[in-house]
Amino acid sequence: MNPSATAVRQVYIKTYGCQMNVYDSERMLEALGEAGYQRCDTPDDADLVLLNTCHIREKAAEKVYSEIGRLRGTVEARARRGLDTVVGVAGCVAQAEGEEIPRRQPLVRLVVGPQAYHRLPHLLADLERDPGIRRVLAEFPVEDKFDHLPRRRPPRSPAAFLTVQEGCDRFCSFCVVPYTRGAESSRPVNAVLTEAKSLVERGVTEITLLGQNVNAYHGVAEDGSSWSLARLIGDLARIEGLERIRYTTSHPLDMTDDLIEAHGEVDKLMPYLHLPVQSGSDRILQAMNRRHTAKHYLDVIARVRQARPDIAVSGDFIVGFPGESEEDFTATLDLVDAVGYAQAYSFRYSPRPGTPAAEAAVQVAPEIQSERLTRLQRRLDSQSRLFRDGCVGRTLPVLLEKPGRHPGQMVGRSPYLQSVHLAAREEMRGSIVPARILSADSNSLSGQIEAT
Ligand code: SAH
Ligand code: SF4
Ligand code: F3S
Repeated sequence: MNPSATAVRQVYIKTYGCQMNVYDSERMLEALGEAGYQRCDTPDDADLVLLNTCHIREKAAEKVYSEIGRLRGTVEARARRGLDTVVGVAGCVAQAEGEEIPRRQPLVRLVVGPQAYHRLPHLLADLERDPGIRRVLAEFPVEDKFDHLPRRRPPRSPAAFLTVQEGCDRFCSFCVVPYTRGAESSRPVNAVLTEAKSLVERGVTEITLLGQNVNAYHGVAEDGSSWSLARLIGDLARIEGLERIRYTTSHPLDMTDDLIEAHGEVDKLMPYLHLPVQSGSDRILQAMNRRHTAKHYLDVIARVRQARPDIAVSGDFIVGFPGESEEDFTATLDLVDAVGYAQAYSFRYSPRPGTPAAEAAVQVAPEIQSERLTRLQRRLDSQSRLFRDGCVGRTLPVLLEKPGRHPGQMVGRSPYLQSVHLAAREEMRGSIVPARILSADSNSLSGQIEAT
């Protein structure tokens, strides 16, 4: 049976990488929904398998090829049942490797970069007309993809992502994002406000504003003026029914005064800040082209804490960057001690093709990288445990997001973005309840709803 003979086609989508990809996957599903595709939970049923990929580290990129390898059996089994399967690669690997993907993995018939998702239905129609062809679309078209992507399905969670800014002009010397997502660009203010209102009308109570460098946001308003992220947040906070606002990910140099002040002034802005630093050594920060010092970063954190004393600080770290000495690494540990992170992500440096750092002469040996990563993670883990322990005994407002592990349980989020497990009825999903925190586990909190 040819897929074109069936009215409804099935799409299976697998998402890797950052929240922008999670957001994009939802938008692609919406666009595909309009073209007659329904989401399914296994590739066995899928007329279209889409992998929305990440290129940030070597491991992330390689995962895609192993997944395609695993799909071969499924595609062949479906072919024996007379069913055609289109395997497509979207996301940052699609953008970075383009034509190379179907060359390396002929099973792939469609490659579509992040700026071309609105063209998906059209590309698929092409493939249906001529199943022998391959379509690769990974340039940066000038039109705004968001203008062409519908937003009509009910959100899957009361906490939604909303992309407001894409791309990055900072060119940290280790990073592929400026190449995979292109130059920094902000969505117009009105487009963001309209999308936020429509999310709230459909039951969303928390919105996380997304961008690779979200605090560089400078969207054009209707009167032609340019709005900062802080101004955008201030306006979003006026939307009735929207209870919580977050944003991620930020660069320390773009933590402007008005954004720092917003943390003290806008109640709906949650007390959580993800502010990657990467290293605590000025020498390494310079080699990374971060263009800020450790002191600058610490000053920003101090000012944010002045505005919002209980803020939970999160960060990203890279260990074993080319040329990193034991002394440089110690400076990173010192910075960690000075900040006190509520949680953090840390990675071994991974050389990425085409980035300046990958060409550096002095790469750090893998066993040294691993040893430093273990030491750093031990320190970060003990800090996050301390932060979670500090929540025990407090009553925190928790947004109930989804069913928990056991019947009668729900999982929600504290203002500090920790998962909180508690007994609650499914109908309470989407509401914010006061929860007394009873204990802290290795990654989350447990509590019970406080009688009001
Ligand atoms: N736009 C965000 C996130 C970029 S990617 C920002 O600027 O912070 C997320 C994290 O991946 C980075 O903060 C960095 O810690 C890590 N990362 C990026 N490139 C990497 C590389 N080549 N090797 C190891 N980690 C990397
Ligand atoms: Fe990459 Fe972030 Fe640096 Fe931009 S600011 S180049 S996204 S690490
Ligand atoms: Fe990965 Fe692209 Fe996001 S490289 S981290 S999916 S922007």
